[in-house]
Amino acid sequence: MLTSMKIILDHAHQNQYAVMAMNSINMEMVRGAIIGAQEAYSPMIIQFGCGQMKNHAHLEEMIPMIKELAERVSVPIALNLDHATDYNIIADCINKGFTNIMFDGSALPYNENLKRTAVVVSMAHSVSCSVEGELGHVGMAADSDDANIDLYTDPEQALEFVAKTGVDALAVAIGTAHGNYPQGRIPKLDFERLALLKKTLNIPLVLHGGSGAGEDNLRKAVACGINKVNVATDAFSVGKTAMLDALKKEPDMDYMHMCMEAEKKIKEFVKYYMNILGSAGRYKFLNAAATGNE
Ligand code: 13P
Repeated sequence: MLTSMKIILDHAHQNQYAVMAMNSINMEMVRGAIIGAQEAYSPMIIQFGCGQMKNHAHLEEMIPMIKELAERVSVPIALNLDHATDYNIIADCINKGFTNIMFDGSALPYNENLKRTAVVVSMAHSVSCSVEGELGHVGMAADSDDANIDLYTDPEQALEFVAKTGVDALAVAIGTAHGNYPQGRIPKLDFERLALLKKTLNIPLVLHGGSGAGEDNLRKAVACGINKVNVATDAFSVGKTAMLDALKKEPDMDYMHMCMEAEKKIKEFVKYYMNILGSAGRYKFLNAAATGNE
């Protein structure tokens, strides 16, 4: 069922696990993610950003499809607008039923980020839509931003930011970055800072740039307080590789079967992540209740 991201993340925060948030730009990704969530008895967050929306994942087509698929399953599914900056797009998405807005003011000076995030919180909360903010800056792996300590989140500043904006969750910069790391390099995360952020803020924390972060890092990040992990690059690569491998094996394969292969592999990928993050099995009781076997 379509659910507020705040409800999903508060449960993850209270029970020390994390939920996968996958950038999903078509039916194969959305269906793979939602059916994967149901099969794993896990919550799931479907998200896409403004550029993805403009280029391919058009709002008017994606929203009815996501709502339809989410309402067919018993596990909670959130719909998040990823990295939004434009008030008009944000208002449109809130009105059309997104259950969370991630406002990204992390490239702005601190006071401007705070002011604009607070505006988005007041817009969204008026209709029970939750908000994720970002403080510090999760940059690009290709620019080695992950290793730039100047971009990391400062716990004391974050405490003020959360109190003054009223965000429901905070994306923190602790050593990951977006996109592929050069030559398969695994980033080094600042777990001490993460644990201090968790202790200081006591709210759901978000890790952007999940792709290529490595299983060990992800498990440790969850143990230190991460409750949502964003994944885009690796998910796209799973879909692409599935199609290329299928074609290699069967050069005459038609387009429909290539799409089916992509969906199957994306579903497996999502379930693999749910096991790493500890969200698998968290909603088994819903299914038991539905069948009267609780
Ligand atoms: P990756 O593409 O590195 O997985 O980052 C995704 C992300 O953080 C989306 O907000």
